[in-house]
Amino acid sequence: MQPIIIVHGGAGDIPTSRVQGKLDGIRVAVRAGYEVLKKGGTSLDAVEAAVVAMEKDENFNAGYGSVLNLRGEVEMEASIMSGTKLDVGAVTLIKDFLHPISIAHKVLTDSPHSLLGGEGAKLFALEKGFKTVPPESLISENAKNALDKFLKHGEFGRTEIGTKDEGGVGTVGAVAIDANGHVAVATSTGGMSGKAVGRIGDTPQIGSGTYADDNIGGVSTTGHGESILKYCVAHAIVKLMENGLDACTATTNAINGMTSRLNNTAGAISLSNKGDVGVHFSSNRMAWAYVKNNKVIYGIDQGQVLEESYDEKKN
Ligand code: GLY
Repeated sequence: MQPIIIVHGGAGDIPTSRVQGKLDGIRVAVRAGYEVLKKGGTSLDAVEAAVVAMEKDENFNAGYGSVLNLRGEVEMEASIMSGTKLDVGAVTLIKDFLHPISIAHKVLTDSPHSLLGGEGAKLFALEKGFKTVPPESLISENAKNALDKFLKHGEFGRTEIGTKDEGGVGTVGAVAIDANGHVAVATSTGGMSGKAVGRIGDTPQIGSGTYADDNIGGVSTTGHGESILKYCVAHAIVKLMENGLDACTATTNAINGMTSRLNNTAGAISLSNKGDVGVHFSSNRMAWAYVKNNKVIYGIDQGQVLEESYDEKKN
């Protein structure tokens, strides 16, 4: 099987001033994941590596750069799934670790449970040797400004990031198939700017933010969490693929279906287990990129498809 990885850097009303940072970051992330696959690594390690790259990058709403809750704190969530035996790991309400996706991966491999939250997730991470960071070190200027703007008007926009001037960052995710045909998916987020303390969105919920099945394919979602979880978007896309739709049509139909039913926007990336790719978003923009046949294909605007050779170092 030819390995393949696709990543997203969040759907929303992304302002033009933040487009270049996202396009740069998304290509760094997809290359980080593809390097793992090229060396014969697993799809699980590849999706973790891609998401770790975006959790470090303030251009994205995950890890450093996460948006803030009403108390001005970072509260992050992440999930990861292996399509081989449908193993899952997820964490929520994480406040003082840089890489929630790595803790979620550890839940998958080392815990009898699937989803750990808050104090319990922190205890588990400490037991497994993860180092805490000062919570304020995860807060970017953009995230502070976004919360200030949110507090002035106090209303949620129809995307996870509110209105155009609220930071323009987004949830991140990756879907990969390795040389052995195993599918894995990872998704990580800071949630919504101005969210209630303790709010949990779609990202840590398997079937909403993340789904993988070696017999079908994999999906990672981004956008308005309350809508995505009502519609179980990731699982909906996988089921459409199981019923014979290609990844692109399945992704388009489920995202458009969610938007017309719930009047909120979202986006998703998908791969079928044969390696066909799906990218669709009902928001104005969503950063995405994939590597296939030694080419990096990427974009952020509706209808935009850019391309560079994998060997070119453009970022
Ligand atoms: N889609 C991320 C969130 O709403 O939390």
